[in-house]
Amino acid sequence: MAASASCNLPLVPMSTNHSATMTVVAATAAAATLAASLTLFQFWSAGSGTRRRSPAASSRPVSPVVVHDDGVVGMIGNTPLVRLMTLSELTGCDIFGKAEFLNPGGSSKDRVALSIITEAERRGDLVPHTGATVFEGTVGSTGISLALLCRARGYRCHIVMPDDVASDKVAMLERLGATVERVRPVSIIDANHFVNVARRRAEEAQERAVRGGRPGTGGVFANQFETLDNFKVHYEVTGPEVYEQTGGELDVFVMGAGTGGTLAGVARYLKPRIPTLRVVLADPQGSGLFNKVKHNVFYAPTEAEGRRRRHQIDTVVEGIGINRLTRNFEQALGVVDDAMRVTDQEAVSMARYLMREEGLFVGSSSAVNVVAAVKVAKMSRPGTRIVTLLCDSGTRHLTKFWSDDFLRQQGLDPAPTGRDYIASL
Ligand SMILES: Cc1ncc(COP(=O)(O)O)c(C=O)c1O
Repeated sequence: MAASASCNLPLVPMSTNHSATMTVVAATAAAATLAASLTLFQFWSAGSGTRRRSPAASSRPVSPVVVHDDGVVGMIGNTPLVRLMTLSELTGCDIFGKAEFLNPGGSSKDRVALSIITEAERRGDLVPHTGATVFEGTVGSTGISLALLCRARGYRCHIVMPDDVASDKVAMLERLGATVERVRPVSIIDANHFVNVARRRAEEAQERAVRGGRPGTGGVFANQFETLDNFKVHYEVTGPEVYEQTGGELDVFVMGAGTGGTLAGVARYLKPRIPTLRVVLADPQGSGLFNKVKHNVFYAPTEAEGRRRRHQIDTVVEGIGINRLTRNFEQALGVVDDAMRVTDQEAVSMARYLMREEGLFVGSSSAVNVVAAVKVAKMSRPGTRIVTLLCDSGTRHLTKFWSDDFLRQQGLDPAPTGRDYIASL
């Protein structure tokens, strides 16, 4: 590889990446090891509620330079943990966010998209450059990740989504060359629910391929809610990353659930290795998962999917919250210890806080996660070590969650918040 040859430096494989070909070019293998151990050391030594002066940029250890010789796929995963500086100080706990928005497709759904495509290729259901299409029903992030990887792997991409999702995501999908089909938001038991439409489109494409004498080239339905390729990648990759980044010293993992794949996969990996770990679900308003975890009852009968007339989940939060039990969330049953409800207003105010006080511009599900993490911190002993996920960036949500006008129309207050807000939580 050109980079290593010209530098004449050794290559050090990294352990938890999807790709065996991912390499780290470092001055020496020892320097890479030193940098890695410094990262671990700095994780908790940054202080439990006490503020330490961060080292000047010039005195920081030089990080190994990462080279991905397998293209965009190599950039997925291995996301950093970022200390939430002011929130840690204010709560006396160590609160970290795993910066999933740094994945190339802008969210942790890149991991899921890669897993689904790779597994389909392994089974022979997808063959690159045959005109095969990946179909998915999604509120956006998974679609963007699939669209990106389809370009890189030689597939077409067809995304079906509800027509009330932030238009930023539609624009992004179209720029990535995906076909976008927008449908009215209806219940999952309706044939025109976005997930059901996506499944049907995949079946139609498969039938067309058979009729055209090209069986096996129609494509696949990604099916992120039900396929355990989703859970698996978080169990095999995201969980081990969190374990490695914390050195196994972690008290609480906090996370919302959409499909439930992340929560289930990470929790299932960590729990046996950290027996004292508590796993807490962060749930937006309108979602039934809180009740499922707390009382083992999914919803009041009037709230079951299919019973309510229009929106299944009345929240401005996108990506998490659901009123049915998916196969992925099922894997989390028995390893989730507690649940926190988070209101839309709390999420909006936290997103404004994170932007103003931490310099982090995140989307709605990340804001929900951080509200729950702070609530957990306030109920915990000082020094409690908490990790959550920063799922995607605020740039995905400019027309809704980050639009003051839209929020006011929803009866929400978009005003900037400061430390008083954290005190009030
Ligand atoms: C924007 C966003 N919200 C929420 C989630 C949670 O997803 P899930 O429960 O489907 O794993 C993710 C993925 O991690 C995400 O990217």
